[in-house]
Amino acid sequence: MKNILLSFCFLGTVSGLRAEDGHQLWLRPHAATPVTVVAPAKNSVLLATARQELQQGWQGRAGATVTLALKKDKAIRYDGFRLSTQSVQANTERGILYGVYELLRRQQTGQALADGISNPSYEHRLLNHWDNPDGSVERGYAGQSIFWRKDSALVVTKRDQKLWQEYARANASIGINGSVLNNVNASPLILSAEYLGRVKAIADALRPYGVKTYLSVKFSSPVLLGGLKTADPLDPAVIKWWQSKAKEIYQQVPDFGGFLVKASSEGQPGPQDYGRTHADGANMLADVVRPYGGLVMWRAFVYSPSDKDRAKQAYNEFVPLDGKFRDNVIVQVKNGPVDFQPREPFSPLFGALKKTAVMPEFQITQEYLGHEIDLAYLAPMWEECLQSDTYQAGPGSTVARCTDGSVYRQAHSAMAGVSNVGLDTNWTGHDFAQANWYAFGRLAWNSSTKSAQIAEEWLKLTFQNAAAQPAASAADWNAKFLTPVTQLMLASREAIVDYSMPMGLHHIMSATHGHYGPGPWWGPPGMRADWTPPYYHQAAANGVGFDRTKTGSDAVSQYHEPLASQFNDPATCPDQYLLWFHHLPWDFKMKSGRTLWDELALHYDRGVQQVRQFQRTWDQAQPYVDAERFGAVQNKLRTQSGNAVMWKDACLLYFQQFSRMPIPAAVEPPM
Ligand code: GCU
Repeated sequence: MKNILLSFCFLGTVSGLRAEDGHQLWLRPHAATPVTVVAPAKNSVLLATARQELQQGWQGRAGATVTLALKKDKAIRYDGFRLSTQSVQANTERGILYGVYELLRRQQTGQALADGISNPSYEHRLLNHWDNPDGSVERGYAGQSIFWRKDSALVVTKRDQKLWQEYARANASIGINGSVLNNVNASPLILSAEYLGRVKAIADALRPYGVKTYLSVKFSSPVLLGGLKTADPLDPAVIKWWQSKAKEIYQQVPDFGGFLVKASSEGQPGPQDYGRTHADGANMLADVVRPYGGLVMWRAFVYSPSDKDRAKQAYNEFVPLDGKFRDNVIVQVKNGPVDFQPREPFSPLFGALKKTAVMPEFQITQEYLGHEIDLAYLAPMWEECLQSDTYQAGPGSTVARCTDGSVYRQAHSAMAGVSNVGLDTNWTGHDFAQANWYAFGRLAWNSSTKSAQIAEEWLKLTFQNAAAQPAASAADWNAKFLTPVTQLMLASREAIVDYSMPMGLHHIMSATHGHYGPGPWWGPPGMRADWTPPYYHQAAANGVGFDRTKTGSDAVSQYHEPLASQFNDPATCPDQYLLWFHHLPWDFKMKSGRTLWDELALHYDRGVQQVRQFQRTWDQAQPYVDAERFGAVQNKLRTQSGNAVMWKDACLLYFQQFSRMPIPAAVEPPM
């Protein structure tokens, strides 16, 4: 397989393979120089993988010797490693593999190799696949599932195995060590003996790369699959059912990671159906997997139509349960309090739980950020969340530190990303969406890595030497490709915020086009209010925005001081969250001196202009990119550009009915 990839490289073909054939992502093959690898004489697949990677990718001194050493070192945490030009040392075999990938990455990107230790910020770094047993992918924009197929679902082919192996390798290269194979809206089928057979085959393919397998489970599986009358977590028969199911799973997959659970959320069954709490439900499952060292990731994505402010509910339900969860439960919290919007303040839960392990969940797939049509580099969004200060234990209590065990000790730490991977040729639909998969792994490994560094690294690995005509020099490539395209990536998320939901607006997308494009007006009779945009923007003659101040829904009080007061006052609330926390008149005077209406219009327009600038930047990058990827990205940018105009025009014309103010002269008039 790898030899095949190498020969493709020599023929100059760098893309256009089907995902099943191993489109190389950021792992493009290179002509390696010879290296001698000295490794412990252990019969270990992981070490064999590490050795093979070194031999295939080595670009250091020809004939060098690299030693792989498994040696206990207290300064090394989890699967961290100690690196030098000559050696990789770690406590675990996974650590060795990660060290090898880091060594190779440094060689390929021309980064200096300073001797030192690299420890992961989080113990568990997981992708969540929202893949269904029929092969469809919820909120997936890159084709069908790589794991499940409608037809002959249970027959495992050589192609499947190869694909899963390539997928696992990509994950390992960026430190991802776990995959949840199925949708959080879980089908009970996944726990049937037939499907578990396929789960085993997937786990076998992921294991050589250190990627553990997890499953999402439906809370009512004992009823739907087991034929019991109840799924009450305190019922002995229910507990017994889960125990024997766990035994069956661990027989097939001895290193199975555990369960991810969406319960009592968006119509999914859960413990509340039986008058029990989230803690009752999570603890029952945690006890079931504990003998095997398993984990339960229990999602806090809960809200109901009766709640006056959806943004408050997760906090209200989970804070009273703090201290009631077993230590092998991690509460999985979306970055914002509503739902993966282009911009939200961080979820106040990150700063609230003191005795419960909490983990961030980010959405890599672009449900609300233009699917895989718009170019959105998401690392800046995740960095913004991770570096937000919750003030939980005084200044410096960032979301990153509240979730990695630094502020309060937690037995386990983790970070999850909802995957954007599918069967598409390039894995992720948009070539630049690969960068989000990459960035997620890099941030989960080191939550203080800068978005810019990740973007540069990814561009180098993915596009260097990818042109039909090589760049005149490295300096030429840096100046004409790397620098402008890095800037494009770094600006891309903000551009989407600007042309879709600026200044704290949220959830005003179209519901009828799968959350792509504008829909601030949408709200058919009888529809749940909290699923309709007017619930969130509250536009009326008297102004716009959701009042979450102390005299409104009081969501501000879920934040620690000084944030609560800062958010509560429009004079101190950051502009980017203004309409998240405030309902303000259209002629409200902004810090810029402009009216709110003018400012809003300028943001929409700025987003449109930005995308046009991206188009120009990309056009100039043509000499440095292979024709196929150049054309694909160019086409998508063209569609995005039209989409941005649609967002701007639709939103401004819609809101203008209420503001009754003219579109400012500096703004391109609606078409
Ligand atoms: C969003 C998304 C759903 C998903 C849900 C979740 O609401 O639109 O498709 O199931 O989040 O995270 O559970």
